[in-house]
Amino acid sequence: MVKRIAVFVSGGGTNLQTLIDAQASGLLRSGEIVLVISSKPGVFALERAERAGIPAFVIPRQQLGLAGFEARALELLAEHQIDYIVTAGFLSILSADFVQRFPNRIINIHPALLPAFGGAGFYGLRVHEAALERGVKLTGATVHFVTEECDGGPIIAQQAVEVRPDDTPEALQRRVMEQAEWVLLPLALEQVCAPH
Ligand code: GAR
Repeated sequence: MVKRIAVFVSGGGTNLQTLIDAQASGLLRSGEIVLVISSKPGVFALERAERAGIPAFVIPRQQLGLAGFEARALELLAEHQIDYIVTAGFLSILSADFVQRFPNRIINIHPALLPAFGGAGFYGLRVHEAALERGVKLTGATVHFVTEECDGGPIIAQQAVEVRPDDTPEALQRRVMEQAEWVLLPLALEQVCAPH
């Protein structure tokens, strides 16, 4: 049975787009994206979902608070009979209570080689700023299961990316996306959804 996937987003949704493309090309075939939930209104990820014909909902996290967001998300997840949740560029930390309802069922993409540059406060461009400040020569991306420990759940897949001496946070973010995130996420998701 093809698994039913919800993708949680908060921004541009390039990782969502990668999954939509992987579905179209057949790379992702054991799972189907049937629901997109954005924690912010007006983000481009919503347009990507609409273009792909995937039902998309905004649950304004700032307005409703985390508890309000999660309560509405739970309703939508049940209505759409979701098997797996992917947090892709989703910038809220889910509560322990929420996470424990979906053991090994929530998959996150993080733009560093965890456990380096992970945890609360490490999101988006900040992760790459921290990597450059620390002077690491390799960084990358990690796909992992979400547990109540932020960025601390079991690792599914990692891909390393070289840091260049002249990198800016923006240049490094772009290279990590191109060489690691967009490659790794569809492969890891197919692996998780495939019958075994
Ligand atoms: C991506 O690099 C993603 O890994 C990161 O936000 C960026 C935006 O993704 N996520 C985190 O930092 C989560 N801690 P997007 O283009 O898919 O919206």
